[in-house]
Amino acid sequence: MQRGLLRFAVLALPYLFAIAGAARYPSYGTLQTTQTDGVLNVVINNTYSTINLFDKHVQSDLANLIEELQAPDTDVRVVVFSSANEEFFIGHIDVKYFLPGYESPLPLFDPFIPQMLFPVSLLWNITQLPQATIAMIEGRTRGIGNEFIMSCDMRFASEAPSVLFNQFEASFGVNPGAGGGMYLAHTIGRARAFEYALSAQDVDARTAARIGWINTAFDTSAALHQHVQALAARIAVFEPMGIAATKTGINAVSRPTFDVLVRDAQNVISGLLGMPSVQAFFEKFIEATHNQSISPLELNYGRDLGELFK
Ligand SMILES: *[C@@H]1O[C@H](CO)[C@@H](O)[C@H](O)[C@H]1NC(C)=O
Ligand SMILES: *[C@@H]1O[C@H](CO)[C@@H](O)[C@H](O)[C@H]1NC(C)=O
Ligand SMILES: *[C@@H]1O[C@H](CO)[C@@H](O)[C@H](O)[C@H]1NC(C)=O
Repeated sequence: MQRGLLRFAVLALPYLFAIAGAARYPSYGTLQTTQTDGVLNVVINNTYSTINLFDKHVQSDLANLIEELQAPDTDVRVVVFSSANEEFFIGHIDVKYFLPGYESPLPLFDPFIPQMLFPVSLLWNITQLPQATIAMIEGRTRGIGNEFIMSCDMRFASEAPSVLFNQFEASFGVNPGAGGGMYLAHTIGRARAFEYALSAQDVDARTAARIGWINTAFDTSAALHQHVQALAARIAVFEPMGIAATKTGINAVSRPTFDVLVRDAQNVISGLLGMPSVQAFFEKFIEATHNQSISPLELNYGRDLGELFK
């Protein structure tokens, strides 16, 4: 990883521990939450980005949210993630994270799980929250965005044309470092995981539902919301230990182990990120996407990525 990032991680630590009692990480207001009985609805609303980028703001807010959800006194039993951006559920990671000069209030590695890079730890933690987690997807979700939804227990989407799934890291010369390929292999099978993760294709909601990438695709947004909220409310009346205990068993057989995730996903990408060709591709991507903002290439990456290889 970048030396600059490492230095920043060390500088950030005293600050993190100084604010015990308050949220552990800075708050940016990119997650709007509303709770109804045991259901917490979380709207991902990254006002720092036009594509709901998975950047330091969202990561910081998500870490604080996870800490609340892990607290023993929480009465949240189901968490529903949705997006305020109708074109993007989560665009992808902020690729500037991997470039020299990137600054963040977040440590590079999770201070509490030192083998894991911060965003990898975030997603790992989501997989083992005691609550049931549901991604209610409208808009594109690529790269770590797809890893985010794969880390949730369930995925439902609308069939709007803006809904596109893509595990696109291979096209950058790297791999899905938070385990996206591993989760896909468990979920859609080995051959399809290879097909989609190696080709960086955009997959529409109907196809995704047919192959099991998502649970169900709904033809309208209203039908999606109605189904997800009814499902969430149904689960939320059950005892929390029943939800958590059921997750433990399903996780045990359907998730990569911690060690495999770290060794064969995260540490693999860490070894590739600094390569000159990868760094050059990130620079090219930033330029071609108009600084990772809403742009033809962000909208149609799967269709148009060929222009980056001319
Ligand atoms: C690029 O976009 C980020 C928001 O994602 C913004 O903070 C930054 O100022 C932009 N940089 C340029 C050069 O436009
Ligand atoms: C997203 O945040 C902005 C700025 O705070 C706010 O105006 C907007 O209503 C929010 N959108 C949703 C859907 O919550
Ligand atoms: C992940 O969960 C662990 C507890 O298992 C906690 O110590 C750590 O702070 C969490 N990290 C993030 C980034 O959520």
